[in-house]
Amino acid sequence: MNEIKVFSPASVANLSCGYDILGACLDGIGDEITVRKTKNKEIKINKVSGQKLSKNVRKNVAGVSAVAFLNDIKVDCGFEIEIKKGIKPGSGIGSSAASAAGSVFAINELLGKPLSNKDLIKYAAEGEKAACGSAIYDNVAAVLLGGFTLVREKNDIIKLNSPIGLAFTILHPQIEVKTSDSRALIKKVVSLETMVKQSANLGAFVSGLYTEDYELIGRSMKDIVIEPLRSILIPDFEKLKKICYSNGALGFGISGSGPSVFALSNGIIQAKKISQSLEKKYKKLNIPFDIHCSYVNNLGVRIIDLK
Ligand code: HSE
Repeated sequence: MNEIKVFSPASVANLSCGYDILGACLDGIGDEITVRKTKNKEIKINKVSGQKLSKNVRKNVAGVSAVAFLNDIKVDCGFEIEIKKGIKPGSGIGSSAASAAGSVFAINELLGKPLSNKDLIKYAAEGEKAACGSAIYDNVAAVLLGGFTLVREKNDIIKLNSPIGLAFTILHPQIEVKTSDSRALIKKVVSLETMVKQSANLGAFVSGLYTEDYELIGRSMKDIVIEPLRSILIPDFEKLKKICYSNGALGFGISGSGPSVFALSNGIIQAKKISQSLEKKYKKLNIPFDIHCSYVNNLGVRIIDLK
């Protein structure tokens, strides 16, 4: 096996109550990464299509994560990487995570899987660090493990139960929000009362995933810490929230660091109904946007071709 093509999906981080802790993997939108083994012992990025991004392995997150991985394991070959971006950088649905996780997953497969997907998370997080200055684990964990994931700490990442009926609607207003800028908006200190409320929601959300109690999942998706500060970045945030809840959403929030927002629904039909209402609203604002509906992708990054 000398060549592999993988589909590395988009993801939603935070899920309102779990800043830097929770993630969920999406389907149908993502990057395609092709990796070839070479005799020459170096890592090269041959081609990037879909978005204007650097081919320099020290600047492109797919290169950074691959270099971090190969610094730790001994191999007697090199790798050429091709990236077909399906996710816009700065969209809030894990663009850098998809490229970083996809590249280490593909290399690991070509090497006969010396590491588990869980072991690869730390290398993909190096890509995140190159992209925004912090090694954030929530998106890369969701991409590499699939389903819903929880980062307890960087070496203790848990795949949670993922009820199969849950579906996302993602609205991406096409304004770029850099993760580093969006992180800079957040206050570094919260009150004890706030900490208690946010932790109660996080615990209840996880319980809801295991008992498959959709109402509990929905009412736990509250963010009293980050959302009030970041929502100013998103045109008509409060109106979008109202539209989603009045159309039956279980929960609504900012996807990762924004500007994308998401609604969580019971089933894809509900998700599509919400998508139509959001579309109607956003068309009036004169801001270009994308809308996407997806079940939770329980598999995560996957192989689409092998040669
Ligand atoms: N948890 C991160 C944040 C995700 O909200 O900043 C960024 O992709």
